[in-house]
Amino acid sequence: MFPPTRFIAVLTVSALSVAVIACSSDAPSAFSTTTPEPAPAATTAPAVAPEPTTAPAPAAGGDASAGEQAFGANGCSTCHSTGGNTIVGPGLAGIGSRGDADYILESIKDPGAVIVDGFANLMPTSFASLPEEDLDNLVAYLLTLN
Ligand code: HEC
Repeated sequence: MFPPTRFIAVLTVSALSVAVIACSSDAPSAFSTTTPEPAPAATTAPAVAPEPTTAPAPAAGGDASAGEQAFGANGCSTCHSTGGNTIVGPGLAGIGSRGDADYILESIKDPGAVIVDGFANLMPTSFASLPEEDLDNLVAYLLTLN
């Protein structure tokens, strides 16, 4: 058994020889440059493409307590109680039994898609631009309301 560092060194050397062989052939190579000579050790590492910045979508199930904060911070609570009473919008108690997470998410991002009976289309559409994470947290929170 090689110690791991030795093993990596061996791998690196083999990779380099592959690269040199590839460069010396006529075959198009990812390593080919305008100079056929092996380039002197590069002083600047080739820019590594930044990792895609798409945040990993939080798995279904945001953070309910962060969602509770977001509910206040985004003004949801000015229109919605978390009980059964109406403020401007319907009280959200039991919302999880009236619709699933997808319905709740849609209600937040596109409130006009389904208008709750007896209510007007008064909910702002601006919440669609909340960060995905906040939306997931809000949904997680609303699902806890019984
Ligand atoms: C200006 C008042 C207002 C604000 C602010 C508001 N809503 Fe609403 N919301 C409403 C009204 C009115 C309805 C009912 C009409 C409809 O279905 O769009 C509603 C409907 C909903 C529903 C569907 C309820 C049901 O019983 O099916 C959900 C879920 C909801 N809102 C969540 C939110 C969340 C979360 C926020 C904050 C990010 C928020 N709302 C902010 C007025 C508001």
